Amino acid sequence: MFELIDVNKTYPAAPEDVQVLRQINLKVETAESISIMGPSGSGKTTLLNLIGGLDKPTSGKVLLNQMNLGSLRNGELARVRNNRIGFVFQLHYLLPQCTVLENVLLPTLASRKSDIEKDSDRKRAVELLEKTDMKQYCHSLPGQLSGGQRQRVAVVRALVNRPHILLADEPTGSLDADTAGQLTDLLLELNQSESVALVIATHSKKLANKAQRQFQLDHQGLSEL
Ligand SMILES: Nc1ncnc2c1ncn2[C@@H]1O[C@H](COP(=O)(O)OP(=O)(O)O)[C@@H](O)[C@H]1O
Ligand SMILES: [Mg+2]
Repeated sequence: MFELIDVNKTYPAAPEDVQVLRQINLKVETAESISIMGPSGSGKTTLLNLIGGLDKPTSGKVLLNQMNLGSLRNGELARVRNNRIGFVFQLHYLLPQCTVLENVLLPTLASRKSDIEKDSDRKRAVELLEKTDMKQYCHSLPGQLSGGQRQRVAVVRALVNRPHILLADEPTGSLDADTAGQLTDLLLELNQSESVALVIATHSKKLANKAQRQFQLDHQGLSEL
């Protein structure tokens, strides 16, 4: 489904460049869930950004369904990102002036659509909000929700275009332990019911253990636990 082959990532810096990722090899199948643990600065965000096509490796390949993301032109890459990949971050990045439903529908607005397609997007959005117990907040503003509820909306927004991969970068980083556990459970439920591959970067061993496979990232590379 997606695969990293001999991926290296170096950032330019003075006095010398910093190599953040070294010879990373990883293969993840449809609807698998994996967690990536590692201390701050170990390169988790860098790795997720490469998988999601937000950034390019210094060397090596990132393949999504056999397609090399590095060979796509910017327009194509943006389309792949919007349709195939969902992102959830530590901070929800919901637009404060838009309702929950409007926020969730944002990723569907990237391409011109017929009224039938717009109706189907709206139906999809409402269904996901129902699945995540957020339907009753459709018309609320993000400011009226708790931190955990906002993250659930961010998860729904990430899934609205039926992505093949859901990348969650410390999604529970700003939540208390109970809420963090609930959000992780929800991510894993959706991973199964939506058949979306799930990659969670987290500091928490307890949360990481909920994924099917666990990886540790450090200066030596990525190793499966
Ligand atoms: N755009 C960038 N330019 C230069 N250095 C960066 C950039 N992004 C991240 N880094 C460096 O790469 C290392 C890994 O960062 P990051 O991927 O954010 O790690 P993590 O998410 O595990 O905390 C850090 O040392 C960070 O300072
Ligand atoms: Mg990070």
